[in-house]
Amino acid sequence: MGTKGREIVGVDVDELIKRLNTAFADEWLAYYQYWIGAKVAVGPMRGSVVAELIEHAGDELRHADMIAERILQLGGTPLLSPNDWYDEGHCKYMKPEDPSVNALLEQNIKAEQCAIEYYQDLINMVKDKDPITYDMVLEILADEVEHEEDLQAIEEDMQVMHKVM
Ligand SMILES: [Fe+2]
Ligand SMILES: [Fe+2]
Repeated sequence: MGTKGREIVGVDVDELIKRLNTAFADEWLAYYQYWIGAKVAVGPMRGSVVAELIEHAGDELRHADMIAERILQLGGTPLLSPNDWYDEGHCKYMKPEDPSVNALLEQNIKAEQCAIEYYQDLINMVKDKDPITYDMVLEILADEVEHEEDLQAIEEDMQVMHKVM
């Protein structure tokens, strides 16, 4: 923990750590949701959907890493057990029971939209109060916005494909 670094944070640091741990849990679950989705996916445009899911999985894991580093900087402890991901997460894991590419896209779009809302709230909390967390969350939020758009663009391509067929 950086003592001065913690001191300059203008919000309740314990509350911030708690919120970051929630995001940390969600990132791991998002990572797994993408990763396992890419394994089981079936249906039209499978190749491009899988490539996108794998790329997103990598981003979510990177987000988890960034958040863990920030939690440690603030003197907190990242959740130590995968059991905690379910208990502490906000966006909830969506099990890909239907492996069709359409269902996978829908689930992951929902997850991204939940993440976007969560990070927007977090940004409002730390704005002008904690520039380090603010910068990090801004970077993550930009990725989530891009993820949502990537998935919706594939859905749109599929709709066009169905029309011409
Ligand atoms: Fe993420
Ligand atoms: Fe994402």
